[in-house]
Amino acid sequence: MTDTDALIAQAIAASEKAYVPYSHFPVGAAVRTKNGRIFTGCNIENASFGLTVCGERTAIFKAVSAGCTELTEIAVYGKTVKPVSPCGACRQVMAEFFQPSSKVTLIAQDGLTVEMTVEELLPYSFTDLI
Ligand code: THU
Repeated sequence: MTDTDALIAQAIAASEKAYVPYSHFPVGAAVRTKNGRIFTGCNIENASFGLTVCGERTAIFKAVSAGCTELTEIAVYGKTVKPVSPCGACRQVMAEFFQPSSKVTLIAQDGLTVEMTVEELLPYSFTDLI
């Protein structure tokens, strides 16, 4: 099993914890940190829909809140036909904590997988105020 396969397996497992009473669309994500730790997350919805947090940001914020701000790879699983496409907010948050060349793997329910980089997901990203 490759490092990416391990991350995919954890993303799929994390989707089982998704709190999705409104969309019924579970998403799971897993991120690897620079020192080899893995953090997972799922989407967490709210009756006030706009307060929903995506699986990607849950995983990233769990890593950052544990002191791991340098992330190297992310896998995202969506229980859908096509690989799930991260929303704009998640792309911007990814740009904050990954390298532009960091690997992103997006996985659909039947295992269909696409790979890209953080920079491909968000070209010419906003980085700082200068
Ligand atoms: N969602 C994610 O968790 N990640 C994505 O990349 C796309 C969308 C969630 C948010 C919401 O709970 C549900 O999917 C439907 O939009």
